[in-house]
Amino acid sequence: MYPYTRHRRLRTQESIRKMIQETVLTTNDLQAPLFICEGNSIKESIISMPGYHRMSLDLIIKTTQSLWELGIRSVLLFVKIPQALKDEKGTEALNPNGLMQQSISAIKETLPEMIVMTDVALDPYSIYGHDGIVKGKEILNDASVEILVQMALSHARAGADFIAPSDMMDGRISAIRRALEKNGFPHVGIMSYGAKYASHFYGPFREALNSTPGFGDKKTYQMDYHNAHEAFREAQTDIEEGADIVMIKPGLPYLDIVRLLRDHLDAPIAVYQVSGEYAMIQAAARQGWLNGQEVMMESLICIKRAGANIITTYFAKEAASLLRNT
Ligand code: PBG
Repeated sequence: MYPYTRHRRLRTQESIRKMIQETVLTTNDLQAPLFICEGNSIKESIISMPGYHRMSLDLIIKTTQSLWELGIRSVLLFVKIPQALKDEKGTEALNPNGLMQQSISAIKETLPEMIVMTDVALDPYSIYGHDGIVKGKEILNDASVEILVQMALSHARAGADFIAPSDMMDGRISAIRRALEKNGFPHVGIMSYGAKYASHFYGPFREALNSTPGFGDKKTYQMDYHNAHEAFREAQTDIEEGADIVMIKPGLPYLDIVRLLRDHLDAPIAVYQVSGEYAMIQAAARQGWLNGQEVMMESLICIKRAGANIITTYFAKEAASLLRNT
C-alpha cells in the first residue's frame, strides 16, 4: 500500500527499467517477407509501401545476404507473376523452373542456413486473383487442395525449409503433410496461416503482387474479423493436421487473437505485421506525424509481448539494424 508501494521506484533509471523488462526483441524473432519479380537488376518501388521494393532474383540474393549479416535468419518468399503466365488454374505455380522454385534454390545455394519459407496459395498465379480454383463464383475447396499439395511439393523439391499455406482451404495441412512425408520430405516444416482474416489491411500487398481479386472478396475462405474463438478452432485444426507453426494475420489490430492462442495453444506462433500496417506507419512517419522508428519498434515489441514467437514484418531489415546498434 502507498507509500510503501511506489511503482515509480522501478522506473527511476534506465538500468533498473531494463532489468525488469518483460519483453526483449531480438533479430531471432524477425522474419523478412521478400517480393520477387522477373528480370535482372530490377528494383521497383511499391507506391503504397514506401521504402519497400520488388526485386529481381539477383538483387534478392544480395538483400538476403545483408539480412543474414544483420542477424535475420528467415525469409518468406512471394513472387510477382507476369499477366501472360496467369491462367484459371494457376498452372505456373507448379512449374519446376518457375520464379518461386528458382528463387528458393538460389537462396539456399548462397545461404544454406537461411530458413526459407514459401507462400502457398494460387492468387499470384490465378487470373482471378483468388487463392484457390474458381468455378463460377465459388472457390472450390478440395480441387484447390489438390493443386496446393503439388505446389507445396514443388517448393520442397526446390529446397524450401518450410511451406507456408496462406490459402485457408480446409484440410490442406493434412494433405500437404501426408504428401511431404510420402515424397521424402519429412523434415520440411509447415507454417500454416491458421488464423488469417479477410482483412482490408492487405491492400498494398495486392498492389505489390498485382493479385487483387478480380471479383468478389475472400470472405468465403478467410476468417470474419468479428470472430475470435473461431481462430482458436482454425489453429487447433491445423496443429492436429500436422502444422509446426501457426500464423496469425494481420498483426497489430489482432493482438487479442495472439494472446488467446498463446494462452491456449501449445505451438509456436508467428504473427504477420501486414502491408497495410506497414503502410500506415510509413505514411504517418513521412508526414512527420509519428516518429517512424520509435513506432516501428513499439509495434514489434507489442506483437512479441502479446505472444508472438516469430514476427513477419516489412520492417525486419530496419529493425535489425536498429537492434544491432543499441
Ligand atoms: C496470399 C497472401 C496475402 C498476404 C499474404 N499472402 C494476400 C491475400 O490473402 O489477399 C497478405 C500480406 C500482406 O498484406 O502483407 N494468399
